Amino acid sequence: GFFIGSAAAGGGHHLEQDYPDPFTFDKKYRKILGQQFNSVSAENQMKWEFIHPERDQYRFEEADAIVEFAQRNRQAVRGHTLLWHSQNPDWLEEGDFTKEELRAILKDHIDTVVGRYAGKIQQWDVANEIFNDQAELRTEENIWIRELGPEIVADAFRWAHEADPEAKLFLNDYNVEGINAKSDAYYELAQELLEQGVPLHGFGAQGHLSTRYGFPGDLQQNLQRFADLGLETAITEIDVRMDLPASGKPTKEQLRQQADYYQQALSACLAVNDCNSFTIWGFTDKYSWVPVFFEGEGSATVMTERFVRKPAFFALQSTL
Ligand code: XIL
Repeated sequence: GFFIGSAAAGGGHHLEQDYPDPFTFDKKYRKILGQQFNSVSAENQMKWEFIHPERDQYRFEEADAIVEFAQRNRQAVRGHTLLWHSQNPDWLEEGDFTKEELRAILKDHIDTVVGRYAGKIQQWDVANEIFNDQAELRTEENIWIRELGPEIVADAFRWAHEADPEAKLFLNDYNVEGINAKSDAYYELAQELLEQGVPLHGFGAQGHLSTRYGFPGDLQQNLQRFADLGLETAITEIDVRMDLPASGKPTKEQLRQQADYYQQALSACLAVNDCNSFTIWGFTDKYSWVPVFFEGEGSATVMTERFVRKPAFFALQSTL
């Protein structure tokens, strides 16, 4: 009943152009992904820019391949994501649509994508990163909220629920691991949505941690308050990055500290009722997004580029 997942690498902006798609072409990678995890998330392949590249064109091959892989390996799948400000196709962001058209576009997208995988997705990140770090709704950056108002979030949940009544529907964000202004904003929003009868089932803390900022010691307490609302919780994208020494190689002490963060995060989740899913954002540094997105930081996953298990791998294993 507990799900340990990994993102399936592929399609990332950080992978060099013409890089052979890891999920498709790296045999060793696929073998480990199939054997060590019982849940899989698409790192990119279900995002709008991938699955809906033109207004009248959906492209399902890569997402289908991940779902089929998961089914063959008896793994759950987390769907990611339906309403987000990032990785949207140009036709959408730069298009000139009326409000009615935009609403219809979002509804069609949710019906089509959620409907296609109905019964095969355990949890959907319906709304991703809708608050900024000042705990304000992203009313400018997020095309849906900007054009259609904050109520669109509730509609997205309703449409997703109609398209797949079995999937658990999540709010998901980063920097919401501890109790802070941003997680408070989610706590309030979750209460409002539940009061309105919106089919919201879960709260996901991504868990992109850095040893620079310390471990969010109140993670368990934070997850617990969402559980007390009757929601499931999940760690959906954990990695633990660090400042790399000039050699590019982490020290023993850094690896020990990283293992400790992973272990504490898993322990917090295990201690909270209905925190049943713990996903790492890739299992190997070989394809990790971290070095490209966070300058000077790296070594954020549980295996080296050559698939050698780090202390963090063993720490997770022994915590389960
Ligand atoms: C990242 C991917 O890992 C990269 O490959 C891609 O280029 C950019 O997005 N929060 C999320 C994820 O919800 O979708 C992001 O994934 C990481 C931060």
